[in-house]
Amino acid sequence: MAQDYNPVPQPKANMGQPIPRYEAVGKVTGAKIYADDLPVPGKPAYGWMVTSGIAKGRITGIDEAAARAVAGVQAILTYRNRPPLGETKTFAGGGLAITDRAPLAGPEIEHDGQPIALIVADSFEAAREASFRLKFTYEESDPAPTFGSEGVVERPLGEVNPGYEPIRFKDADAALAASAHVIDAEYATPTQHHNAIELFSTTAYWDGPRLVLHEPSQYVWGLKHTIAKQLQIDPDNVHVVSPFVGGAFGSKGAVTHRTAMAALGAKQIGRPVKVVAMRDQGFTHNGHRQETRHRVRLGCDAAGRLTGYDHRQSEFTSRVSPYSNGGLEKTAAMYAFQAVKTDNYIVQGDRNVPTFMRSPAEVPTVYALESAMNELAAAAGIDPVEFRKMNDTRVNPVNGAPYTSRSLNECLDAAAESFGWSRRNPAPRSMRDGDWLVGWGCSMAMYPTQMSPSTARVTLRRNGSALIEVAAHDVGTGCYTIAAQAAGERLGIDPGRIEVRMGDSRYPPGPISGGSISTASVTSAVADACDKLAAQLGVPEGAGIDARRAAVAAMTGPELEVLGRWIPPSLDEKALEAMYDGGVRITGGNLEERTMFAFGAEMVEVRVNERTREIRVPRITGAFAGGRIMNPRTAHSQYLGGLIWGISSALHEKTEIDMRRGRYVNDNIAEYLIPVNADIQQVDIIMVPEVDNEINVLGVKGIGELANVGTPAAITDAVWHATGKRIRELPVRIEDLL
Ligand code: MOS
Repeated sequence: MAQDYNPVPQPKANMGQPIPRYEAVGKVTGAKIYADDLPVPGKPAYGWMVTSGIAKGRITGIDEAAARAVAGVQAILTYRNRPPLGETKTFAGGGLAITDRAPLAGPEIEHDGQPIALIVADSFEAAREASFRLKFTYEESDPAPTFGSEGVVERPLGEVNPGYEPIRFKDADAALAASAHVIDAEYATPTQHHNAIELFSTTAYWDGPRLVLHEPSQYVWGLKHTIAKQLQIDPDNVHVVSPFVGGAFGSKGAVTHRTAMAALGAKQIGRPVKVVAMRDQGFTHNGHRQETRHRVRLGCDAAGRLTGYDHRQSEFTSRVSPYSNGGLEKTAAMYAFQAVKTDNYIVQGDRNVPTFMRSPAEVPTVYALESAMNELAAAAGIDPVEFRKMNDTRVNPVNGAPYTSRSLNECLDAAAESFGWSRRNPAPRSMRDGDWLVGWGCSMAMYPTQMSPSTARVTLRRNGSALIEVAAHDVGTGCYTIAAQAAGERLGIDPGRIEVRMGDSRYPPGPISGGSISTASVTSAVADACDKLAAQLGVPEGAGIDARRAAVAAMTGPELEVLGRWIPPSLDEKALEAMYDGGVRITGGNLEERTMFAFGAEMVEVRVNERTREIRVPRITGAFAGGRIMNPRTAHSQYLGGLIWGISSALHEKTEIDMRRGRYVNDNIAEYLIPVNADIQQVDIIMVPEVDNEINVLGVKGIGELANVGTPAAITDAVWHATGKRIRELPVRIEDLL
């Protein structure tokens, strides 16, 4: 079925112009308006979200008297007085809610920090003061907060997700038994939180039957439909505005209880209500990266050819919503395995529901696979870069579907040359510089090329300028700028003359800003609109860009407006219709007939002080092939952020849990460790050219979630190379090396 796209005009190189993000100056000078800054009609009231003080049990009493007595308090919403709400599901259940549980559903407490009341007052201070005086009494039981806690329930993922299939490709056990070298190891990754600088906020007001929401969002159409379902109102009466997002990384994709609570509060008092979750509440009323455990068995023959791959993943999730990110079907496609067996389990306990966090499935699963790859290469006495190259594949071994393009080997070569990999002495503890033990490690990075249907309205004006409107989102990736570039090169217009509007549910629907799908999906719809405009201007099909530029310049009639639309191969019209209803329809990665991934290679130098065990990362190199790069400047920024995030994941980030109380301990950005400037030294990024005309109109692959995948495996291997110690649980801290 290979549907080949023939881009018009076909770009000569695979790199677009490195133009700066057009909103950059406005953002750094504070001129840009974020959702929480938008004006509202009249004086707003302020909502304080009250969250539970226990992790498991039930509310047995609420004493509101003292809270209501605080001057300025207008309303207190709890499960006892909230109106009936409609049901919504999590992403795992086909919806977009953060949890299957409805807002303020009842007295049951399912996790620490569960929202249990909203206090609305004339001032923020009054609402907060009242929150101290609102007394809840509980019947409390012991929570089961993590793997191994008494009372957790482990189930095969298939029990809760009928679409999930464990992989049984040939006989992995037999292949492993016949292997010359086998690694059998367990790996663990921690709970992590997004900690975007912009807090989670919602401003809600009603204009008759119309609800207006100012809320930072990765999917304004999804938010509109989800809240309409919860409040049981017509979605056409919901207007969501989210012009800029101050950090999302997955955390602003799902719909939390905060939104419905703000809308109900505003309705009750007949005034706009602003609700901001405090930094600690952001850890619990929203989601996080799931904690995972892995057992990997990986084998190769005497010559270093991979044989069997057996991977069991267990993800920690909540009791109320069996949310999972999965991902083993993707690692199973990575190398020329002769036999594969995968099993995904969930473990349910008394915690809030996990959600997407930058490369949700890939970060934990690739960490485990690539760690085992490094360990197996060492066991077989083969250089780990060479080991990956000799086990390259052109097809997904499990179903035989060919890769549309795959440049892992080119990335490995480019990174190795730049890094100087050939100078690595393979023996652990063999490289040193004074008191510093030096280690070099490497890993593969990958991310599925995913896409969603999209629309985009493009208006061409008589003066040769244009306007693009689409309810997509720029979550800091450069999407505004790239949409203008796509239209510019398709119509022969300077991108500086193209205005782009996004992040508003009044615009025609665009995809959820998740799964690294925005550039591919939005530019494909923009390209369709531009082709329609060219046709309307009388440009013959197949004519080059000069003919389009001339037609635009010669345009004399009134302004022209068209709706572009694009449906990726393997999806149909129904997928686009579902998006009009706020649904999420994503395709790509492992398909039946084709396999689509972006790849990268990462090499890192780690230095461990022999006396203090302090771990430093003086340099890291990443070489990436992501199809056509629309804008090398914004792409560089994504790769840079990804590599730093990867270092963070390997050495810094972990949400600590109080095992007795089931609470997050370091729920603030003072104690939740992320790298500071002093932790990040030399970061080198190489963009490897790659042309792929099969994936979408402009041949672009999503890259926003590519570079932070694999980094932890490279760093833990470098730590082993420096010290001789294998650390199989993230993050690696000084105490692990004592
Ligand atoms: Mo991103 S974690 O795919 O929203």
